[in-house]
Amino acid sequence: MNLKQLAAEKAVEYVKDGMRIGLGTGSTAYWAIRKIGERVREGLEIQAVATSKASEKLAQEHGIPLIPFAKLDGLDLTIDGADELDSELHLIKGGGGALLREKIVAFHSKEMIVIADESKLVDKLGSFPLPVEIIPFANEWTLASLDEISANPMLRTEEDHIFVTDNGNYIADCRFGSIDNPAELHRKLLAMPGVVDNGLFIGLAARAIIGRKDGTVTVLE
Ligand code: 5RP
Repeated sequence: MNLKQLAAEKAVEYVKDGMRIGLGTGSTAYWAIRKIGERVREGLEIQAVATSKASEKLAQEHGIPLIPFAKLDGLDLTIDGADELDSELHLIKGGGGALLREKIVAFHSKEMIVIADESKLVDKLGSFPLPVEIIPFANEWTLASLDEISANPMLRTEEDHIFVTDNGNYIADCRFGSIDNPAELHRKLLAMPGVVDNGLFIGLAARAIIGRKDGTVTVLE
């Protein structure tokens, strides 16, 4: 079995009738959305919100009831992927460019379950470039500020165009090397004018479900 599917389907076992669910973004979250859709067709009653336009479309295709944010005062559970995670459940997210919406949704969830194949579990974050969402205005100056803190930022492009997030912003993929203190870096980035948010998720994930090559899953809490 696909390891992402294995982790995702295990996480969907935590979804119960009546829950308000946050739907993540990416190729691992895809499997969770698919499975939730299957359970909805079997009678599971939930309300959901999506963390990207792509996941919204997928949820609609799978018959998952999406509720306007204004009608919900929070969520019970969010299931989402990650680009890297460590044993303390610090995450790097945003490989798909949805980090801001993902963080808002995770923040307003009682619980976030991270789903990943075992390649995403690392001793220290930082091999995966950290996505930083920046506003287009004066982005050259924001990139220069990032450069000053040794981020080695690269503006993300897609088919020779600057990549634009669902929120109309840009992504600077930053290479800090091994990140010794994710919480401190998170604070430093948030203090920088022009930076909207960054892909470090600190203290948001309560549990991670890792799909292993031997067909088992590991649950980290
Ligand atoms: C999107 C994300 C994804 O969760 C992350 O990139 C992992 O993606 P995948 O499951 O495709 O490996 O943060 O912004």
